[in-house]
Amino acid sequence: MSTPCFVANWKMNKGIAEAEAYLQTFEKHAAQRTGAPLAETDRAETILAPPFTALSFVSEFLKRSSLRVDLAAQNVHYRGEGAFTGEISPSMLRDVGCRYVIIGHSERRHIFGETDPEIRRKLDAVIKRGLRPILCIGETLEERQGGRTWAVLESQLSKAFGKFLQGHEEPAYVSEWIIAYEPVWAIGTGQTPTPGDVASVHQKVREYLSEGLKKGRPRILYGGSVNEDNIETFMKEKEIDGVLVGGASLSADKFLKIIDRGTLVKRG
Ligand code: PGA
Repeated sequence: MSTPCFVANWKMNKGIAEAEAYLQTFEKHAAQRTGAPLAETDRAETILAPPFTALSFVSEFLKRSSLRVDLAAQNVHYRGEGAFTGEISPSMLRDVGCRYVIIGHSERRHIFGETDPEIRRKLDAVIKRGLRPILCIGETLEERQGGRTWAVLESQLSKAFGKFLQGHEEPAYVSEWIIAYEPVWAIGTGQTPTPGDVASVHQKVREYLSEGLKKGRPRILYGGSVNEDNIETFMKEKEIDGVLVGGASLSADKFLKIIDRGTLVKRG
């Protein structure tokens, strides 16, 4: 069984003071559990994805604390350096302490027009720099209603991972890669697919990737309107390794409940 994984995507929210208060809530939670059975946050992998402006602060805070929390960026540019005003390179993200990078989030694809070829270049750049990708894939409502869910997901996966799936240059750390299945229509809407539907999509993703990736098994998370009330139903599914949470991750208390409840379901 893989370690359950919980990613908080803060999106364009929280300045330094709010980030500090959030992390202090995490510390209090861990302190309350000291001496008691291991805190759930120690039995899970927790990843925070703050906005770029808070990365440095969160990274320094985590270095000083005993929290076991990893850092992710929400986006990246594929070039190493140069005249690309407003962009951030993979090595800058490593420099600031990121281990993961979210790539191809639905808001990037749909609001900012990010294309599959750009996503592939970002993935390549991130993997080359030893960062771990959190690749988001997902179908729109129209695609789902037209019965094209798997065709869309397969196309997104093959365009992103193409050469690796054909057996070329399979890199290290594949088991630390993350795929987040996030149906576009479920993000921020309060609507979700059934856990069973998600599990069958995850199974297909897993089978599809295992044909090309032999060195490891990426974890597959679900994202879209996950909260502290529905987390258990998702985590009960063997195929769901964890969740990517937007809105409900903005409250440290809610996100801690999601981690605690989800981990208990997975690890008993
Ligand atoms: P949500 O967002 O939890 O607010 O639906 C999920 C995401 O965008 O990753």
